[in-house]
Amino acid sequence: MTDTIRIFDTTLRDGEQSPGCSMHLAEKLALARQLERLGVDVIEAGFPIASDGDFEAVRAIADEVRGTRVCGLARTGADDIDRCGAALERAASPRIHTFIATSDIHLEHKLRMSRDQVLAEVDRAVRRARGYCDDVEFSAEDATRSDLGFLVQVFQVALGAGATTLNVPDTVGYTQPGEYARLIGALREQIDPGSDVVFAVHCHDDLGLAVANSLAAVQAGARQVECTVNGIGERAGNTSMEEVVMAIKTRRDIFGDVDTNIQTTEIYPASRLLSSTIGVPVQPNKAIVGDNAFAHEAGIHQDGVLKAAITYEIMTPQSIGRSSNELVLGKHSGRHAFRERLQELGLGIEGEEFEKSFRRFKDLADKKKTVYNEDIEAIVADSVIQLDDRFELGEVTILAGTFAKPTATVALVVDGEMQKATALGIGPVDAVFKAIAELTETKSDLLRFQVNAITGGMDALGEVSVTVCEDGRRVIGHGAHPDIIVASAKAYVHALNKLSWHKSSHGLSEPKGI
Ligand code: KIV
Ligand code: ZN
Repeated sequence: MTDTIRIFDTTLRDGEQSPGCSMHLAEKLALARQLERLGVDVIEAGFPIASDGDFEAVRAIADEVRGTRVCGLARTGADDIDRCGAALERAASPRIHTFIATSDIHLEHKLRMSRDQVLAEVDRAVRRARGYCDDVEFSAEDATRSDLGFLVQVFQVALGAGATTLNVPDTVGYTQPGEYARLIGALREQIDPGSDVVFAVHCHDDLGLAVANSLAAVQAGARQVECTVNGIGERAGNTSMEEVVMAIKTRRDIFGDVDTNIQTTEIYPASRLLSSTIGVPVQPNKAIVGDNAFAHEAGIHQDGVLKAAITYEIMTPQSIGRSSNELVLGKHSGRHAFRERLQELGLGIEGEEFEKSFRRFKDLADKKKTVYNEDIEAIVADSVIQLDDRFELGEVTILAGTFAKPTATVALVVDGEMQKATALGIGPVDAVFKAIAELTETKSDLLRFQVNAITGGMDALGEVSVTVCEDGRRVIGHGAHPDIIVASAKAYVHALNKLSWHKSSHGLSEPKGI
């Protein structure tokens, strides 16, 4: 009989917590819809007490996502749990995830609590959470550096209070595969072996072992893996969802009796959607979703793959929803073909988002000889996230070159009113940014500016990411356009919209972390 490994996706909570990965409501909703298509079992949508923005995001996702369990994070305090319960009030399948640290290091230096106090907190918190929903997860933060005897006691208390999932986080990315497997085995043996409680694992990648540790835990009986798309997360990141899922699928000989509910062809669209939303590109050699993951460069490899793909390919690009870089659509393609292509790419958008994306596709197809899947994904990501923006970019006109002093005129809709400004700069991008800064009256600093070509060739769609910072809040904006100056303007405006959104929804400073 095959056991299901639940995939608990924390891209929108632990992932979003990492610097520069913050998303606003519309972006989180788009990601949540994609996670639902992907078939994850649980979406951890946020940490409701951290900020009003987080609360609203959890609530909106709980309202909209009906087919997947939606979870909110809470510390053990009553206020945290009540806020989480309120955010999940209308969820079809809610889960409260409550946690407290259990290692002596954390008890002594962070919590300043005794073991008995921690046990009492766990009992109170889980019972209070059960007052809101039947599905309660308890996590022992820093479990891998905790005393095993105390950890067993903590989990027994959580179970007795009504927890249905017990999570064993490797919070600091410290454990090793064999050691972690032994820990999971010991916990399973010592904690009510007859009960149907699920043991979960949550690994960080500080030593590059998050995926290996999670897989070792699965072999030792863990039945929930907590992970993120592209492995984003605190510090070095979390377990990468795509790597765990594809390892289990590809090595049936080893993981034969377990499987996930993941629709693997939705993996690549999820990866692309996330990286273009947060403006953090995936490293080219990243397993599964990196640009080079299926690129065979060496002649001997190419020869082998041409003769039989199995020689050097352990899985197909199609199995994760990647198509080859062929021309897919062009300027003669209509609405119907565009919609079909979106469906194949897992980008199920409708209404205003569809119309906006289609107009941008036609504009691009007019300018560019070939339109690739990656271009379409960038267009959609760009269109989906711009619905509630304060600033909207209009025309950009540039004068630049060997003899001209770089000059930019920018038209921008600010709070519904079209305004124009002209500025000089050291280069054309600088001139455009100065004009935008004047129109938006921003006080932010530009920290990073990065240009990528989304697809190859002279007519490549350029994707620009910028990092801006105001009063300690760092956000990343991105923009895609065949003209790199326009892409830069879009990226800057996107970042300023994000800052403005953070200001209006939860003040400027970084949300309360854990
Ligand atoms: O890393 C960690 O311990 C966490 C917990 C909240 C599960 O993110
Ligand atoms: Zn974590």
